[in-house]
Amino acid sequence: MSRTLFVTSALPYANGPIHLGHMVEHVQSDTWVRYQRMAGNTVTYCCADDAHGSGIMLKAEAEGVTPEQLIGRFKDEHLRDFVDFGVKYDNYHSTHSDENRELSSLIYRRLRDAGLIESRAVEQAFDTKRGMFLPDRFIKGSCPTCKTPDQYGDNCEACGATYRPTDLINPISVVSGEAPVQKSSEHFFFRLPAMEAYLKDFLQSGVVQDSVAPKLAEWFKAGLKDWDISRDAPYFGFEIPDAPGKYFYVWVDAPVGYMASLKHLAARDPNLDFDAIWAKDSQAEVYHFIGKDIIYFHALFWPAMLEAAGFRSPTGVFAHGMITLNGEKMSKSRGTFITARTWLDHLPAEPLRYFYASRITGSIEDMDLGLQDFVQIVNADLVGKYVNIASRTANFISKRFGGVLGTSVDTAVLEQVSGVADDIADAYEARNFAKATRLTMAAADVVNGYIAEQQPWVIAKDEARTDDLQRVCTTALTAFRDLSAYLKPVLPQMALQVEAFLNIEPLHWGSIGQSLAGQRINKFKPLMTRIEDKQIEAMQAAAKAMADAAKTPAPSKPQDDDMISIDDFMKVDLRVARVAEANPVEGADKLLQLTLDVGELGTRNVFAGIKSAYAPEDLVGKLVVVVANLAPRKMRFGLSEGMVIAAGNGEGIYVVSPDNGATPGSRVK
Ligand code: 2FM
Ligand code: ZN
Repeated sequence: MSRTLFVTSALPYANGPIHLGHMVEHVQSDTWVRYQRMAGNTVTYCCADDAHGSGIMLKAEAEGVTPEQLIGRFKDEHLRDFVDFGVKYDNYHSTHSDENRELSSLIYRRLRDAGLIESRAVEQAFDTKRGMFLPDRFIKGSCPTCKTPDQYGDNCEACGATYRPTDLINPISVVSGEAPVQKSSEHFFFRLPAMEAYLKDFLQSGVVQDSVAPKLAEWFKAGLKDWDISRDAPYFGFEIPDAPGKYFYVWVDAPVGYMASLKHLAARDPNLDFDAIWAKDSQAEVYHFIGKDIIYFHALFWPAMLEAAGFRSPTGVFAHGMITLNGEKMSKSRGTFITARTWLDHLPAEPLRYFYASRITGSIEDMDLGLQDFVQIVNADLVGKYVNIASRTANFISKRFGGVLGTSVDTAVLEQVSGVADDIADAYEARNFAKATRLTMAAADVVNGYIAEQQPWVIAKDEARTDDLQRVCTTALTAFRDLSAYLKPVLPQMALQVEAFLNIEPLHWGSIGQSLAGQRINKFKPLMTRIEDKQIEAMQAAAKAMADAAKTPAPSKPQDDDMISIDDFMKVDLRVARVAEANPVEGADKLLQLTLDVGELGTRNVFAGIKSAYAPEDLVGKLVVVVANLAPRKMRFGLSEGMVIAAGNGEGIYVVSPDNGATPGSRVK
């Protein structure tokens, strides 16, 4: 019987790029959804950006844009990244939406009316200069345990200690640099302990993986706590009904964003019944793919909210582990933080989807993206085993049989290939994609063994064996069709190419084992090329360059305190100069040594940190602007007698250049 499923991935925060860690999850849910559809089930697949919270508010402020502008930009970027990775949501919405405001308020009102909301005063760090309460991550100070300076208010990166922000030595607000004070304010709490019996029962139903059970048991043993669901203005989010100046904590309306995304889609799709999916007696299944770090929110808070508000709870919460790159945590500062876009700039998406699939077992174990393993596995499996089957046989069909497959096949081989369909289906269903790809490659080995034994290239030379040639190639290509169906959830683009090549309807699970006798196929075009080490190297270099550029402070909006008077400005002697000579500096990665002709002021020697953006020969003859009255600075490489003005946006460096006609030495005002 066909099932109806609603599937989601965790909502990415709308203040940073999608990286390869996010992609493990989104590719995983997308693969599962594609499999379910091939198996004949009806699936709605939704996601959204998680657009609220102090972090987003402050980042927008720092960039001098509104939060709405910031989240709009990230949403567009995120969606593009997903689409280019073949992750195809039916709807990609935002938690900052009308649907989400309505649903969050509705759920809150129902909890309140059920007596599950309490309010009480809470003392918290407050930034008097900025006029806001500070989340723990916005307070820094020295660790109370090991005394390492510059640690966040919740835990120490040096010794791992966890503590309250009030424990920090010499705490300061990251927002203003001032020491915070303690201030009291009224907060709203969701009485989670009142839901304990329900949650215990609910979690017995197999909704989480077995490996998550010990963690849940630990939480129950420690005792469930009331959950603080409100934050004070200023906050970017939804105001709580009947509570002016109080906002829902971002984690309240984030999961409601799953429902809101579906509701937004249902308004445009008459076949989609939002109420039926979320009704208590719903026949539909609801699945959330998440990282293991947010299990608490999805296995406790979220089902408790849903239950108390009269909605159904999830059927499954599928947690996955974290990703490491070459055995280490991805790190922005070390330049090993790889965004989806950096990957796509240098490498195709589907091989990475395949690599992920080959490692995803449905467990919460962490996963390593070893780039050498990636190259090796993708080249060996996809190019060496899978595509190879078609590339060794297709041309004989085109050249010798007018592109038409034969009517006779070697059934023993085909039965071996189609015989694993149920096992592969079970593996997909259980999200054990590693097993699904392993079984597929074992089947590909059988076919390659058959081709090696039959040697179609030898048969082809024997005029008397034309029928044999057609039979062997037809057998191989029929098996190739089955393998393509097995891989279609992982490699949807490849499947499209194969469908076009074999001239067949879109592959689904029922296509497996069907005859292709007499099928007219198209000319074979290479389906995939080997991944080269140099692509990986270029991708890593780009990630590193981005990290280095980010170390240059990003532009920030001027604050009142940063203003200077016109007199101050006039003290700066800006002059036009012509670059007479430009040379690299031995031992300095970033510097170029420039000899500048500053007209009446003579020549100046200046070291400029612009090597990453300019080749020396491109600078010679260029007009630039120089700060001519900067006190000379003695550097390791010599004396620097001025500063060349350049713009930097954290990603690139752009030397400011007057239009042609300006003469060296003239003043810039
Ligand atoms: O941890 C995160 O990245 C959150 N933005 C996930 C939210 S998932 C859901 F609850 F919205
Ligand atoms: Zn410490």
